[in-house]
Amino acid sequence: MNARDVTIIGGGMITHDLILPSLYHLQRTGLVDTIRVCALNSAPLRALAESPELREAFPGQAFAPHPALTEPPDRRFPQLYLEVLGAMRPRQLAVIALPDPLHYGAVMDALRHDQHVLCVKPLVLRYSQSVEIEKMALERGLFVGVEYHKRFDRRSLLAKRQYALGHFGEFVMGEARMIEPYSYRHSNFQNWFTADRTDPFVYVGCHYVDLVCFITGLRPVAVSVSGVKGRFPNGNEGYLWANGRVRFENGALLSVIDGLGYPDDGAGSNDQGLLLYCEGEGRTGMIQHDDQDRGVRHAYLDPIGCGGTRYNYVSPDFYRVVPWEGPGFKPVGYGYESVAAILEAMRRIESAAAGLDAAAALSRRRELIREIDRAGLLATPANSSTNELVAEAARLSIEADGDWCRILYGDDPHVEMRGR
Ligand SMILES: NC(=O)c1ccc[n+]([C@@H]2O[C@H](COP(=O)([O-])OP(=O)(O)OC[C@H]3O[C@@H](n4cnc5c(N)ncnc54)[C@H](O)[C@@H]3O)[C@@H](O)[C@H]2O)c1
Repeated sequence: MNARDVTIIGGGMITHDLILPSLYHLQRTGLVDTIRVCALNSAPLRALAESPELREAFPGQAFAPHPALTEPPDRRFPQLYLEVLGAMRPRQLAVIALPDPLHYGAVMDALRHDQHVLCVKPLVLRYSQSVEIEKMALERGLFVGVEYHKRFDRRSLLAKRQYALGHFGEFVMGEARMIEPYSYRHSNFQNWFTADRTDPFVYVGCHYVDLVCFITGLRPVAVSVSGVKGRFPNGNEGYLWANGRVRFENGALLSVIDGLGYPDDGAGSNDQGLLLYCEGEGRTGMIQHDDQDRGVRHAYLDPIGCGGTRYNYVSPDFYRVVPWEGPGFKPVGYGYESVAAILEAMRRIESAAAGLDAAAALSRRRELIREIDRAGLLATPANSSTNELVAEAARLSIEADGDWCRILYGDDPHVEMRGR
């Protein structure tokens, strides 16, 4: 049997915009059986259940809400997800779509309940936690996929292949940017995006650092991040802007700017892109991705675009629902493809082990997990934990106003402020 039950833990923005619609479509294609969504309280679950966009795209499909929608909207159930996990059959799928600091506990709980895991980025905030997750998952023959969907953008996959073929030369100097909309400052961000907890480099810069590692195969060895602080509307202080530099093992440098400040009146939903210069024999190569204006522009009669605008750069590449030959609409884009690829990996692992006795099945599942780790296409705790080292180094550096923090590999990978 290929279809698996899925429990999504967390019913917020990413669940609405990507995870739930992707799983609804995979339910249509036969990879997903029942879907449960567990949130802290019933309010976001009601919003998901009543979302006009989801109803229109997936008529007749529904999820089981935990807590029930009849519970008072604000009554909190912080431990309920443990009961829901406890009621699942073994080796189904738990999707972790919680705020970053809660990922570690929830992933470990899902593994203890013998569930495969899909976790939205970042997996965790500390390298040691990702090692712990990797170890427990392998012991139990469970797959953990980290949903770094930019890897599934065709332009990233193309760049990765051609970089490996030597078509560009060796990466030497680059820049990336990801500036989220100003409107984020008015959202729930103001409650948790405080200077003591995170910053724009750690929150979104990580996407492009991951991509450069993905495309080039190079490891980061030092990180320097400076930030600009400001106040959210509720008075909380946060880093609203960050400017980072990452040194790679071959000496290459990537600078990354991030912020919560793309103008709400701008035509893009944010600003983002990547430019890599490479050294070759007697000439240089280059990879340039404009990830903001992908060449499709719409002017609407009503202000229905992002940020309430009329004129918009529209990306058909990340996630959209479009007409298809079945009922409603279907999701397309690298966001959907990334979720589908993690589900497909889980299906492959389970079907390779089907029919074997328990010990042989465990060893077959482990073999396939290691193969996926080595292939390096899907992000896993084993092949993407440099991201946790980069985040740890970035936090130390931004607190020291941009002093360099080194990443040391070897038997005991860790980060260390230079000169300490
Ligand atoms: N591009 C990307 O890859 C991308 C984009 C957006 C968000 N994310 C990641 O997704 C995660 C969630 O972000 P979001 O924007 O959806 O957040 P959000 O604040 O909108 O939603 C968080 C959800 O977690 C639920 N929750 C909190 N504690 C809980 C508990 N104890 N039990 C059950 N549910 C609980 C809340 O009810 C809420 O529904 C974050 O890790 C974020 O970094 C990734």
